[in-house]
Amino acid sequence: MDIRVDLRSDTVTKPSPEMRKAMYEAEVGDDVYGDDPTVNQLQEKAAEMLGKEAGLFVASGTQGNLVSVLSHAGRGDEIILGDQCHIFNSEAGGVSVLGGVVMYPIATDGEGFLDPELIHGAVKPRDYHKPPTKLLCIENTHNASSGRALTPEATSAMADAAREHNLRIHLDGARLFNAAVAQEIPVSDLTAPVDTATFCLSKGLSCPVGSVLVGDADFIEEAGRWRKILGAGMRQIGIVAAAGIVALDSMIDRMSEDHVNAKKLAEGLAELPGIELEPSLVETNIVRFGVPTGSGDRIAALLMDQSVQINGGGSDLRMVTHYGIDSEDIDFTLIAMKDVMAQVS
Ligand SMILES: Cc1ncc(COP(=O)(O)O)c(C=O)c1O
Repeated sequence: MDIRVDLRSDTVTKPSPEMRKAMYEAEVGDDVYGDDPTVNQLQEKAAEMLGKEAGLFVASGTQGNLVSVLSHAGRGDEIILGDQCHIFNSEAGGVSVLGGVVMYPIATDGEGFLDPELIHGAVKPRDYHKPPTKLLCIENTHNASSGRALTPEATSAMADAAREHNLRIHLDGARLFNAAVAQEIPVSDLTAPVDTATFCLSKGLSCPVGSVLVGDADFIEEAGRWRKILGAGMRQIGIVAAAGIVALDSMIDRMSEDHVNAKKLAEGLAELPGIELEPSLVETNIVRFGVPTGSGDRIAALLMDQSVQINGGGSDLRMVTHYGIDSEDIDFTLIAMKDVMAQVS
């Protein structure tokens, strides 16, 4: 069946006509030699926007986080991160598998914030029984907390705690531009307190591939070495990077539409029987909600019959708005959900 509304993730977005044109026309070179002018332009532009010295184009958000952690911490070192974060839960333990890095998760407060007291308590004393703590990882927006956007103040509070122990700070900003747009602030306000940050081009920014990692020049040089080790030194990759430049020029401001649509979706869903959801907590493009125990897969299957696609689950479901979703799609989804929830509640 044809799917009319795909709310599984903002990763399902397809490149805009302008991106396809830019990709077709992109000037390219061998990026392993640093010769690709389009990649260089994207990296410089991203670094400037995020207020850092340099940038590195990587294949995915997972790769950006992996390269970053491996550049900050070595075998037997420890990193502190939230127990609900993507690096800990959804990146197949890559930093431990490939880098021998120990992950030490601490509780997240439901908004993606890590209490500074917990950060202080997690740092290991100098003791050869313990792995040396090197890095704090934070995430903005926080995927598991319904896309909550951390403020610059919250970011600074966590970073300040980490700096007291000479830790470095990495920000997984897969959806960082959503956080900036939601707060109507420059994205650099959210990266100023951290040492390094990644953001994804292939989520709300709608590019087909890629993420960018930023930091100081020495860090980016080391990150380039790790990217090579991971087999991701890419050649005429300007063809893909070209879409990223278009995205940074033209796809950021429009994210506010995704946020309006997510809010409308949340408000509509909250009225339906069997759904647990607090619409005021939806700040960006992710809507998470509770459904009757164990009914998630059935809801997803019934929605599919109505041409609306979401990921299944147990008792928690997620819908994500994006470039491919308009206000009428939200109306369509709410009508379908009303019918589906009448069947399962
Ligand atoms: C917060 C967060 N970080 C990292 C990633 C990984 O991105 P990718 O799927 O490009 O590897 C995701 C993907 O959804 C994410 O939500």
